[in-house]
Amino acid sequence: MNPFTYGVVVTGEHFCPRPALVKTLHGNIASRQNCVIRGGRRMGKTSAVLEALRGRKKTGHMLVNCWGKTSLAGFVEAIYESFLSYQSRKGLSMEKILQAFAHLRPKASVDPQSGAPTFSIDLSDRNHIRPRSLEKVLEPIGEEGKKTTFVVVFDEFQSLMQLKECEAVIATLRGAIQLQPEVTYFYLGSMRNEMDELFNNPNQPFFKSAAAITVGPIRRKTFSDYLQDKFAMGRRKLKAGVLEEIFDLAQDVTGDVQQLCSEVWNSSHRGKTVDENTIRSALNRIHQTENESNSRIIDLLTPGQVRVLMGIARVGGRHPTSIEFLNASGVGQPSSVAKALQRLTREGILTRGVDGYHFFSPFFRTWLLTSDIQV
Ligand SMILES: Nc1ncnc2c1ncn2[C@@H]1O[C@H](COP(=O)(O)OP(=O)(O)OP(=O)(O)O)[C@@H](O)[C@H]1O
Ligand SMILES: [Mg+2]
Repeated sequence: MNPFTYGVVVTGEHFCPRPALVKTLHGNIASRQNCVIRGGRRMGKTSAVLEALRGRKKTGHMLVNCWGKTSLAGFVEAIYESFLSYQSRKGLSMEKILQAFAHLRPKASVDPQSGAPTFSIDLSDRNHIRPRSLEKVLEPIGEEGKKTTFVVVFDEFQSLMQLKECEAVIATLRGAIQLQPEVTYFYLGSMRNEMDELFNNPNQPFFKSAAAITVGPIRRKTFSDYLQDKFAMGRRKLKAGVLEEIFDLAQDVTGDVQQLCSEVWNSSHRGKTVDENTIRSALNRIHQTENESNSRIIDLLTPGQVRVLMGIARVGGRHPTSIEFLNASGVGQPSSVAKALQRLTREGILTRGVDGYHFFSPFFRTWLLTSDIQV
């Protein structure tokens, strides 16, 4: 069986140790310090937080995924659902939960994969939910914090900025959380600019309200040992330098390293050695599955914007207005590059970090370099 997992949260045996990060998280839980936990997409934020919580058996937690919540009522339902799941994990029977929270009219079902009970809430007074309602919704969480060490994880927290009532929601949340020093809140997010706006802008209610933690790549040496063990389990030998090439191609993005390793596994056999050719065919398999969606992205862009993308693929996005970059991309003017970068960032094709521009996926970059796009 292919031992590489990607696209899902990993904990336990699937979690490559990140002792420093987990220790930091444990320290913050112990001191009830609210934290903002930022990092690039697929870098391992959610996994690290859940792994840290798994290691603290006596700490209760609930995870609210803010992603895709298009209405305030949807967000409130998600908070209740998560709180009910926590009650169930804590040992309260399904019957008792349905009774105790009857006013929420919860529907219970069993997750087919984990076998754990899950709950769905359908608020009857959806139209009467106001940002101020959040104060009441968070009340039982505050009570829980008085009884036990309790962590609330708001995943993809920046998504709340999409809500119509965003300003009032953020202000009310901040106010209610401030009154709950017993509860530890973790705010996770990946869209740099939006998270920065929420936590680094002095005009925002959450300004400086949480300790900042960054989730970057796993150290290559540690990750290599972990990955090597997995290949060894299936009797695949690795030619020297192969893992370095995988890290380079996946630009050290944790989930993408795992995806490429998974395809390398599919492209190799027991007793055989993985070499450059195996990597090439693994990468090809990824490019083939992504070819259609990648081509659609290109079709929506102007030739100038595609040239800028090609330039970044070739020489990187650290200095996109340098002479070297202009030569590599074939764009004449730095101002044209700047305009293209604006659109490409707005569309989510590029993201801007402290070290320049990056592609939303490292395999979009490798696809660009191997495709014969003419501009
Ligand atoms: N510690 C780890 N050990 C091994 N693989 C990991 C680890 N952390 C993350 N991964 C890999 O990265 C993938 C993404 O992890 P996770 O969902 O935790 O990241 P994330 O930063 O929360 O991503 P997103 O931006 O999509 O929310 C996992 O499916 C797994 O392949
Ligand atoms: Mg996540």
